[in-house]
Amino acid sequence: MKKKSLEVLKSLIKGEVLIAHPLAKETYFRIGGQANVVIPADRNDLKLLMKFLFDREIDYRVLGNGSNLLVSDQGVSDLVIKLKELDRIEIKGEKVIAAAGAKLPVLARKSGKAALSGLEFAAGIPASVGGAIIMNAGAYGGDIAQVVKKVETITVTGKEKSYTTQDINFSYRDSYFKDSDEIIVAAEFALTAANKEEIKEKMEEFLTKRKASQPLSLPNAGCVFKNPKDDSAGRLIDIAGGKGMKVGDAMVSQKHANFIVNIGSATASDVLELIEQVKDLVYNDSGVKLEEEVDLWRG
Ligand code: FAD
Ligand code: EPU
Repeated sequence: MKKKSLEVLKSLIKGEVLIAHPLAKETYFRIGGQANVVIPADRNDLKLLMKFLFDREIDYRVLGNGSNLLVSDQGVSDLVIKLKELDRIEIKGEKVIAAAGAKLPVLARKSGKAALSGLEFAAGIPASVGGAIIMNAGAYGGDIAQVVKKVETITVTGKEKSYTTQDINFSYRDSYFKDSDEIIVAAEFALTAANKEEIKEKMEEFLTKRKASQPLSLPNAGCVFKNPKDDSAGRLIDIAGGKGMKVGDAMVSQKHANFIVNIGSATASDVLELIEQVKDLVYNDSGVKLEEEVDLWRG
């Protein structure tokens, strides 16, 4: 994006515009080069921004909480839109509405405190609400598809649109929004009244299981590969002898083989090379072709 357009944009919107911002700061992997990042202050700001980008044919990408992203070492030339200021959570009786930039574990905890059940599975998933919907994030038998009632978006021209669950075509780690240019701005959830203490216990049980099986103390982007039908990518990598494989500072976790951890200053190219090596290893060992779950932002 040209310097002049960035100046115009700065004067147009209320939110922040960060020039040549290191995306490594925004990703759970702690990897990624620079990009210009805009943080709309509210929904109206986002609409103005979309119209501005559309009129000038400027490409953009959306950043949620950065927990499923591998960003190229060269960064990206597209403008990055970060929704962190759109983070309102509204709970009135059984009606729960969350803005896309709200953190999923915060939403899960607040819903639990309001004695609403359905998001217990989400307590340890470090997603934004928007990122969780796109990916149909899930764990321990639950997923977003089971609890979303309505999703609101802003289109490329800055118009508001609304979807019900049936329109979204949720499946395992997939949704209609993956192939769409729209930006998710909010969602309404269908939760059920339940006992607060039981909800809290369930969340704690899931968090304990997660801590025991996942490498949460090193930078990572969650599971790297999708699970093949009726199997686990982690198990397949493990039995093929993949644990501990390394390229630079990117390593297949010793704790869970479907996690690649950044043990120091891993680069995106280290991780990509390791991903290819792991795919080859598993294919040669069991004939299964693993497919990435992490989203790759190439420059
Ligand atoms: P990001 O990583 O920021 O973005 C992912 C994609 O969504 C990008 O393409 C981005 O452009 C797009 N996007 C984000 N927000 C929007 C929006 N508002 N509108 C349009 N597009 C948008 N996942 C699971 O499913 N289950 C788990 O148990 C789980 N455990 C994890 C544990 C750890 C320690 C980590 C680091 C990750 C884990 N993940 C898990 C992966 C990750 O949290 C999910 O994929 C999550 O849904 C990503 O959300 P995000 O907001 O971080 O999205
Ligand atoms: N396993 C191994 N070795 C390993 C890892 C796992 O043998 O290194 C075995 C386990 O012993 C178990 C089986 O594989 O028998 C499944 O492992 P686990 O329960 O850890 O679940 P998973 O299938 O590896 C999935 C999701 C996770 C989610 C957990 C909990 C995918 C790709 N992964 O992992 O989601 O947290 O279930 O429900 O669907 C993510 O998507 O990023 C993610 C972390």
